[in-house]
Amino acid sequence: MRADLLIRRAQLATFDPNVNNDGYGTIAHAAIALHDGRIVWRGADRDLPADLDAKQELDAGGRWLTPGLIDCHTHLVYAGHRADEFEMRLNGVGYEEIARAGLGIRSTVRATRSASEEELLQQSLPRLRNLMNEGVATVEIKSGYGLNMTTERAQLRTARKFHATQPIHVSTTFLGAHALPEEFVGRADDYIDHLIAEILPVLAHEGLIDAVDAFCETIGFTPAQVTRLFDAARALNLPVKLHAEQLSDRSGGELVARYRGLSADHLEWLSDTSIAAMAQAGTVAVLLPVAFYCLHETRLPPIAALRAAGVPMAVATDCNPGTAPCPSILLALNMACTLFRLTPAEALAGVTREAARALGLQHDRGRIAIGQRGDLALWSINHPAELCYHLGYNPLALRIFNGAVPAGAC
Ligand code: NIG
Ligand code: FE
Repeated sequence: MRADLLIRRAQLATFDPNVNNDGYGTIAHAAIALHDGRIVWRGADRDLPADLDAKQELDAGGRWLTPGLIDCHTHLVYAGHRADEFEMRLNGVGYEEIARAGLGIRSTVRATRSASEEELLQQSLPRLRNLMNEGVATVEIKSGYGLNMTTERAQLRTARKFHATQPIHVSTTFLGAHALPEEFVGRADDYIDHLIAEILPVLAHEGLIDAVDAFCETIGFTPAQVTRLFDAARALNLPVKLHAEQLSDRSGGELVARYRGLSADHLEWLSDTSIAAMAQAGTVAVLLPVAFYCLHETRLPPIAALRAAGVPMAVATDCNPGTAPCPSILLALNMACTLFRLTPAEALAGVTREAARALGLQHDRGRIAIGQRGDLALWSINHPAELCYHLGYNPLALRIFNGAVPAGAC
């Protein structure tokens, strides 16, 4: 058997449900072989095939390997910041009140529209780098701070440029229905028509869109409007996902499940009916504890009910300038455990196996298994729960991307 890279003396947290039943899919004293950017062998070191011929060998020194992490919900391409609104909230003004005053998402829209594409890239790159430094190998990036053709396109093109030029895979999501732009005030239905007729088909045709998302909320769009958008996405063969039940119950979980959507995200106000519909459709519950924390929410997503219904749960940063100015997947992991009471095994499955599912990529990545992509993270830890336990501490030792180790690591 030929391999480009063999890693020995590792502990594997495979997140393969067929391995072990400790929640991590642990293989102790393990080895793993990568070839042509894919995993070709993994198992106990002592079972390594005798004929394995590897070009490069890496001694993991007993450290832990996980799949490359996946941040399946971010808005990280934007310009400016909203520290002023952070201050307003601390002076007693609410998030929805700020939005209704034409600030909130709209102030980031103004900043993003006035940035050049190069400025947008330069301002967003440090956030992307921060995620990569924490072992993230795949990131989803949404538009939604343009709300017109030019700037929605600029955001999605920036995301595609990151995919092409940085050692990270990027999935793009069209979130034109994030907020009502100033020029459409009082005409939300017309705006949805405009998205459906003008913007979505063009950007889809340009190959810029992997999935379609919307903000279904009193300060966002109604279920009827989202339904029209989802019908248009379906006609273009694009999968859907939804910002649902963040601030109120609008049956968004049920709505997105009706389209066999990839995920419903946030979910603090999720109902039992929506949970049952999501379980039936295989729609992933994406939990965003950083937004919960920053908005000082008190109502928890119904974790126990999701668990009992067997709805897959993912965890993401939601990195955005309003409710989660946080390009840190490790902090999101900690908060998923401390605030939402996920077990560390659940939280980590939520940034690997289940996050891949939330992007429709479960056959390609998210587990350490034969045939999966050779994206791995090597951690200087003694137990995988440490990845959730530390706060403000990054134990990443090495990031292997597409089967390649950084120069000088072997
Ligand atoms: O996921 N909920 C809507 N969208 C973002 C917030 C965007 C913003 O405030 O800029 C979220 O929390
Ligand atoms: Fe979001």
